[in-house]
Amino acid sequence: MSGAGSAAPRVLAVANQKGGVGKTTTAINLGTALAAVGERVLIVDLDPQGNASTGVGIPPEIRSVTSYDALVGATSLAGATLRTAVPGLAIVPANADLVGLETDLIGDSGKPFRLRDAIAALAANPPVEGGYNYILIDCPPSLNVLTLNALVAANAVLVPVQTEFFALEGISQLSETIEQIRATLNPALEIQGVVLTMHDERMQFSREVADNVREFFGAKVYATVIPRNIKVAEAPSHGMPLLVYDHKCKGSEAYMDLARELIARERRMKAA
Ligand SMILES: Nc1ncnc2c1ncn2[C@@H]1O[C@H](COP(=O)(O)OP(=O)(O)O)[C@@H](O)[C@H]1O
Ligand SMILES: [Mg+2]
Repeated sequence: MSGAGSAAPRVLAVANQKGGVGKTTTAINLGTALAAVGERVLIVDLDPQGNASTGVGIPPEIRSVTSYDALVGATSLAGATLRTAVPGLAIVPANADLVGLETDLIGDSGKPFRLRDAIAALAANPPVEGGYNYILIDCPPSLNVLTLNALVAANAVLVPVQTEFFALEGISQLSETIEQIRATLNPALEIQGVVLTMHDERMQFSREVADNVREFFGAKVYATVIPRNIKVAEAPSHGMPLLVYDHKCKGSEAYMDLARELIARERRMKAA
């Protein structure tokens, strides 16, 4: 299919080197919500744990071609892309092969640019009519070669922050990393936004942490807050995005709101 007439995709890295803050949950459900409002979305799973892949219904057995293969150049990103049950949502799945990437690419000076170049090739010749509007990269919980590839490939970073004690721990490190990459490998990199996750309005410390994060990041923090919601945690074990599992629950509503807020912010960022 020809890429003529398709705009370049917006590439967003979902990153925070802390584990368990809602990166994968956000990649899956924001991706599903964006697809639900008509965007063409590709999730690139860059975590060796492959939770995003499982969460959209791609079990390990059918991940014969993965993001690892695309990063080492054994296939193109398009060649590693699978459809999901959600119309408009595709995924490049991941498995534990990614653990070996650092060693496999030793001595390769192009190491940080692997994903950027693969996405450029995908955008030049997209496998879907009109191309993808959004590519969401689900990063692993560390600042390793995988996250480096994601931050070099991305136009902007989306940072999930869990409203719990120590939420800001590591955030300054992530901010520094983003600054460093902006100063060197990817000058155009910006923060799309910070999303508060697993928020419990009844807990005073949850509210305090939310206030602290808003003090630190200002207007970068989305007005939409993702509440702690049991359905959010249940959905992945059914291999379904939350919006498919229960589209009326509080978590689904929040991710729909986040998608709309993100699209509005994208328009403003483009106009600026
Ligand atoms: N809003 C939420 N409400 C309840 N549980 C959540 C919510 N968001 C994430 N979880 C659960 O918290 C755990 C960590 O989330 P996950 O998205 O895997 O984090 P990360 O990718 O940053 O490691 C998972 O078990 C997930 O199901
Ligand atoms: Mg994850």
